[in-house]
Amino acid sequence: MSGSSKTPRSGPGFSRRSFLKGSGAAMAATAIVTGAEEALVADDNTVVSGPKEITLNVNGQDRKVTVEPRTSLLEVLRDQLGLTGSKDLQDIYVDGADTVMVDGKATYAGTTFALQVEGKPIRTVESLRDGRNLDPVVTGFVKHDGMQCGYCTPGFVVATRAFLDQNPSATLEEIQKGLGGNICRCGTYDGITKCALELAKGGA
Ligand code: FES
Repeated sequence: MSGSSKTPRSGPGFSRRSFLKGSGAAMAATAIVTGAEEALVADDNTVVSGPKEITLNVNGQDRKVTVEPRTSLLEVLRDQLGLTGSKDLQDIYVDGADTVMVDGKATYAGTTFALQVEGKPIRTVESLRDGRNLDPVVTGFVKHDGMQCGYCTPGFVVATRAFLDQNPSATLEEIQKGLGGNICRCGTYDGITKCALELAKGGA
């Protein structure tokens, strides 16, 4: 999990990054631009073009949104649904700031087309607060100083929650590898790791 370069790392973190890179390439390959109109070949080989109204299940609620084939999930979350916890910070090398959960898996919203996640449960960092109750990952980040500037924090919190949901008794090494898809420019990895490890020891 350590390091500030964008170089993919080994282990589970590498797998997620590799998958996303691969899926990004596949998506690019299937995106077709026809004049002023865009089209996308969906998984079932149907061609979708122009703006389309779809329903996304976000944080347990069905939300109608209008998307074009090129519209990313991140754009929908931030611009149409007002869920601004997920960030687009690739240009300042804060990878993973756009992390959300899709079907329980940590996913980069910025490299996922909105059309791809129709019908799948999506959770953003906003879902980790229920009234005055905060998810233990959130309180753990505070307790262990898992943040400095905070730019990467929402994505890291979501990635940690997703990882612990799937690996509730993870070891230190597994945590470091499992969170390898997120980068913190401030280097708060020690606090984040301590938070995740404490939760893993306590059954997350
Ligand atoms: S980038 Fe500043 S806290 Fe992670």
